[in-house]
Amino acid sequence: MDNTSCLMVIFGGTGDLTKRKLLPAIYNLYVEGLLPDNFATVAVGRKAYTHEEYRMIARESVMNFSRNGMNEDKWSALSERIYYEKVEFHDPAAYVSLKNFLNELDKRYQTKGNRVYYLAVAPEYFEVIAEQLHDHKMAENNGAWQRVVIEKPFGRDLRSAEYLNQKLSQVFDESHIYRIDHYLGKEMLQNIMVIRFANGLFEPIWNNRYIDNVQISIDETVGVENRGNYYEKAGALRDMVQSHMLQLLSLVAMEPPIDLSTDAIRDEKVKVLRSLRPITRETVSSSVVRGQYGRGTIDGKPVVAYREEERVSPDSDTETFVALKTYVDNFRWAGVPFYLRTGKRLADRSAKIVIQFKQLPGILYFKEYGPLEPNLLVIWIQPREGVYLQFNAKKPGQKYNIVPVQMDFCQNCSLYNNSPEAYERLLYDVMRGDSTLFTRWDEVEYSWRFVDSIVNAWKDGKDTIEVYEAGTWGPTGANELLKKDGFEWWNITA
Ligand code: BG6
Repeated sequence: MDNTSCLMVIFGGTGDLTKRKLLPAIYNLYVEGLLPDNFATVAVGRKAYTHEEYRMIARESVMNFSRNGMNEDKWSALSERIYYEKVEFHDPAAYVSLKNFLNELDKRYQTKGNRVYYLAVAPEYFEVIAEQLHDHKMAENNGAWQRVVIEKPFGRDLRSAEYLNQKLSQVFDESHIYRIDHYLGKEMLQNIMVIRFANGLFEPIWNNRYIDNVQISIDETVGVENRGNYYEKAGALRDMVQSHMLQLLSLVAMEPPIDLSTDAIRDEKVKVLRSLRPITRETVSSSVVRGQYGRGTIDGKPVVAYREEERVSPDSDTETFVALKTYVDNFRWAGVPFYLRTGKRLADRSAKIVIQFKQLPGILYFKEYGPLEPNLLVIWIQPREGVYLQFNAKKPGQKYNIVPVQMDFCQNCSLYNNSPEAYERLLYDVMRGDSTLFTRWDEVEYSWRFVDSIVNAWKDGKDTIEVYEAGTWGPTGANELLKKDGFEWWNITA
């Protein structure tokens, strides 16, 4: 029986995330016929708006950010189901009127009391909102389901994450907590498992006998934008590595799950995170590089240095770039370095995984013409989505010349915008109660353990930060990191 009918209650209804991602995602789901018939959205925020005023704001955000553009008829049908409620998050009285309003909408739209509470707010409000929902009996089962969606950051270290988790668990059962990592909603992340486990070609060679190293990079050209406040406390390590990058790594390195159920998949991902070799005071300087962008040029335009950005301290030593080498200490991956790199204001925007295969023995062509280029398998995540395989072939002609050639599958090149946005997929899954693409608590726990090992090693050791020019590939130390192992970053651009 379809049990997706619900009210989607978005705390942080006037925030950036709601405007840029959530409202356009709701609109696109509606256009594609994927919203339940019995559905309404209530945006909750601290500013005072009427429903009509808020609908105008929502309309603008859909116009600006929806991949499907704007269809006026569709919008007008959907917008009637969008409401706004002013709530001071600490004010119990505000929850009384919110509760009454939601109950009224439950009846009007026959949503059976099912609720998605989406906390698109700064993490310091998670606890108080959860408590108020609990105190006002708004998260009580009563034969309906109530799910809570939490945005990152989920804590700033293991301790704070544990505290937060304990608070949430007092109100919501683990199976009703949806911790968002929006990278998991991206098409190609879902494809990693398919590429690995649906092809006889790849899985047999997916191990340390054939793979030399794995490179995972999420490179951005944007700076810190208007998030200086948050970013100063986070930095690239907490902002990107703890979440998106370790999720990518666990999908690449996991063992085949026993089946495709949510927990079977998560069990295997957790094992990878548990096998990560922690960084120590002794290894940190040879395995982790921190950088911060200075002034430079992006798309031909000059940009300011990180320390000159709004709400950033002029002598900040927060990293906007991090590159690191780690190992997955299990039988499959023993000895294979995993290099991770992420940074802002880099030369190009792209996210990809590069699997570099081992060379054949130095005989035949490798003796005659070597060294030849290695075989590479590239999984493009964005902006291009697809798979690229590099191998060696003879260059046509009388002379013998061996050159690297590519087979390149691009799934989003011919049809612009054909891939759903990550948030569409994730919201859809929350309504259906499928938490496969969300992070379970132990995944969060073990990724913090790894990240904490780096933070602690930084604190203990002589931590340095290298300033890099905006618009380049980051600090030179990041190249050295691979060079000393005989490798280099594959900065392949689509
Ligand atoms: C967010 C980070 O989680 O991911 C941002 O907080 C980052 O700093 C963003 O810019 C990158 O996401 P995407 O989907 O644009 O690659």
